[in-house]
Amino acid sequence: MASTATEVTLTERINRIEVSATMAVSADADRLRSAGVDVVDFGAGEPHYATPQHIKDAAIAAIHNNFSKYTAAGGTAELRDAIVTRHADDFASEYKREETIACVGGKHALFNAISVLVEHGDEVIIPVPYWVSFKDMVRYVGGVPVMVQTDELQGFRLTAAMVEAAITPKTKLIILNSPSNPSGAVMNPEDMTAIARLAKERRIWLISDECYVYLNYTGKTFSLGSVLDAKERVLIAGSLSKTYAMTGWRLGFMLGPAKVISAMAKLQSQSTSNPTSIVQKAAVAALGSSQDCVAEMRVGYVTLRDHVVAGLRSIPGVTCNMPGGAFYAFPNISSFFTQNGGKGGVSSASEVASRLLREAHVAVVPGEAFGTEQHVRISYATSKAEIDRGLKRMAEFFQKL
Ligand SMILES: Cc1ncc(COP(=O)(O)O)c(C=O)c1O
Repeated sequence: MASTATEVTLTERINRIEVSATMAVSADADRLRSAGVDVVDFGAGEPHYATPQHIKDAAIAAIHNNFSKYTAAGGTAELRDAIVTRHADDFASEYKREETIACVGGKHALFNAISVLVEHGDEVIIPVPYWVSFKDMVRYVGGVPVMVQTDELQGFRLTAAMVEAAITPKTKLIILNSPSNPSGAVMNPEDMTAIARLAKERRIWLISDECYVYLNYTGKTFSLGSVLDAKERVLIAGSLSKTYAMTGWRLGFMLGPAKVISAMAKLQSQSTSNPTSIVQKAAVAALGSSQDCVAEMRVGYVTLRDHVVAGLRSIPGVTCNMPGGAFYAFPNISSFFTQNGGKGGVSSASEVASRLLREAHVAVVPGEAFGTEQHVRISYATSKAEIDRGLKRMAEFFQKL
């Protein structure tokens, strides 16, 4: 009988990228859960808090007021003003309305910026460990990711000298991410500033992914947007997802030179169009009203961070840097690898992660997703009780390895 299956030939472009590893871990954990298994999920990269009430109320009011039509593709003037005002108040930046765009999440903002800046064959400098999507976005548009290794023992520090050593005539863009997903490392403002000035001097673009900027526990909250003399080459990616516990609402933004922003708006006008109108109203409420909710969540994360890091460090064979921001711990589990004398038959983070899920029912993201084989990422945006359950299972699991 003739086959009825249709042969599907996809573009070379889509075959260059992979499904986001963090989303793949969530899907595996969901599958186990729906089979009745009690999984402790340290995989998901999102706040466990609910969106604050005043933000929800603003969205509900927008629905009642029929604020339900198309808006400008790059967001309403009201929202763009709220973005620049919030940023100016918090970081002494000086952006105008035409220097910002509202997007359907920070990921969308990053994707659009990379799409309008990176040409086929252009090199993009990305420090390791990196957030999963940077390299795939760069590859999708035909760029070449150039990874710069950082040293865990130096707190994953990236200096201007390290960036400079990776620059070639083909370098188009540098991507920084502080606080970092996955390591939680926070760059010091001096290094960030030096890298921004280097980018300007070398006429290279710099995207500073500051989606976790408000989840900084070092007491030195900093945005590259405040470095006014480097502004012409710098783009700041922001998001309401983590700051206001709004991951599902999908609202992010970019701040940067008007020419880049208007190119992003052009792309958006031919693809997604505007972020959801009612979400834009909610975002205005989030950005424009008291920031106490952000401070409260930040205090909660610090408590959870201290708890999870202490617990991880108490497991023999596990080491863990103290993350300065975001809501991830990034323990090094390489002492269990066969090549390092481990007896459990594992030799990479992905083997550890898949056995942790299968045997101990704890979901973590393997370091390979972020460019390292020696770590797993643990999202501690969950309850203390859930952290304790997961840590207990992990301690038992590693004892057997
Ligand atoms: C480093 C980093 N940048 C950007 C994003 C994008 O977030 P969103 O698209 O929800 O705004 C994330 C989400 O996990 C992230 O971790």
